[in-house]
Amino acid sequence: MLVNSRELFKIAQREHFAIPGANFVDMESIKFHVGTAQELQLPLILEVAESHLGDNISLEDAVLVGRKYAEEASVPVVLHLDHGESFETCRRAIDLGFTSVMIDASQKSFEENAAVTKRVVEYAHAHGVVVEAEIGHVASNFNENDRESLYTTAEEAKAFTEASGCDSLAISIGTAHGVYKAKAIPEISFKALSEIRAAVDTPLVLHGGSGSGDDNLRRCAREGICKVNVYTDLYLAAMAAAAQAKAGDYLALRNALKRGMSDCLKHYYSVFETRRIK
Ligand code: 13P
Repeated sequence: MLVNSRELFKIAQREHFAIPGANFVDMESIKFHVGTAQELQLPLILEVAESHLGDNISLEDAVLVGRKYAEEASVPVVLHLDHGESFETCRRAIDLGFTSVMIDASQKSFEENAAVTKRVVEYAHAHGVVVEAEIGHVASNFNENDRESLYTTAEEAKAFTEASGCDSLAISIGTAHGVYKAKAIPEISFKALSEIRAAVDTPLVLHGGSGSGDDNLRRCAREGICKVNVYTDLYLAAMAAAAQAKAGDYLALRNALKRGMSDCLKHYYSVFETRRIK
């Protein structure tokens, strides 16, 4: 069942659980993630980052395969563009058939971020699509040039949601994208989360789920985060399963990758205490 995230996030917010935002990078990982959601009978945010578009998958491929598997699933599946870098990419994704887009202008000034987000929101809403935006900045450990995380404050979250009209908001409370240096579990500011939660009704989402600690993430889900993005751990788990399987042929390798990725997603479903949604 292909849906946008509006109703899913309302339920997650009310019932204090989170839904995984599982990143795909090719057509196989679309099938793996939807297959796992289907097996567990749980909702899924199926997402691809603009930075992963290219030889392995295009926006057109993502729509063709993502929509097919989402529509065929008996559970709600959102087809989401992660970290859209411009109004133009968001518009293309919306025109092609994504049901949700993220415009990430978090590196820009508050005013520029709010203005471009508002523009995407107007276009998206006219097409029945929802918009995630980010205020503060979740750093990326993949990219050494990325500057440090900037924590989101309740005041700016409130002002930003009012100015932009975004449907969900990614906040920065201590996680980072990628593998943490020295594999240390980050310290999450639950105080910031509770202040932001109290200040805005807009559903809150968290990036950089990988390696952030199961107890931390469970608490985030219980205390107001509706979606947690996971990328790195899914692919590390796939590689670990492949290495362990010592697969001698292509199909055995593919099955090992699928099993590794699926087991990791199942683990996060249990950490986030995701519930069934009819
Ligand atoms: P991780 O790679 O740290 O799981 O982050 C994923 C993410 O936030 C994608 O937007």
